[in-house]
Amino acid sequence: MTLRRRLLYRLLLMLLISALAAVGACAADDVPEVPVGPDGYPDRELVAGRQVYIERCANCHGNDGSGGRGTRIADGRMVAQYPDIGAQVEIVAAGVRSMPAFAEVLDPAEIAAVVRYTREVL
Ligand code: HEC
Repeated sequence: MTLRRRLLYRLLLMLLISALAAVGACAADDVPEVPVGPDGYPDRELVAGRQVYIERCANCHGNDGSGGRGTRIADGRMVAQYPDIGAQVEIVAAGVRSMPAFAEVLDPAEIAAVVRYTREVL
């Protein structure tokens, strides 16, 4: 392979990677951002929870939590349904009917963070 051709391939590969990254970023765009707190920064646990939500939950529950394959979990529904946050954590860890269990794939801190995100941001 000539040097020119090799450079061309490398350029094409870089273009492809940045195009894919852009698509990924767009997909997460309408997942609500964590608002900044009184100290001028968003709560770090909620930011981590949003990331878990994007990676693990949004495809079924919708980017904004309005539902899809999974139920609607936005607009304060979770706090109303599970006044005790522990009950909601339990559902996410153990699953229910067609809702998958996450205890094996997420650690307790990630589950706690994503549950807070659904209660406080969605
Ligand atoms: C494969 C699709 C799918 C994924 C991925 C998924 N869920 Fe679900 N989820 C469901 C379905 C379907 C239900 C309704 C289960 C039922 O009651 O029959 C549900 C129910 C729930 C409930 C109970 C809602 C209620 O109305 O009581 C919570 C809380 C929940 N999901 C949170 C999450 C979180 C947090 C994640 C990501 C860590 C997640 N889900 C990922 C499909 C999914």
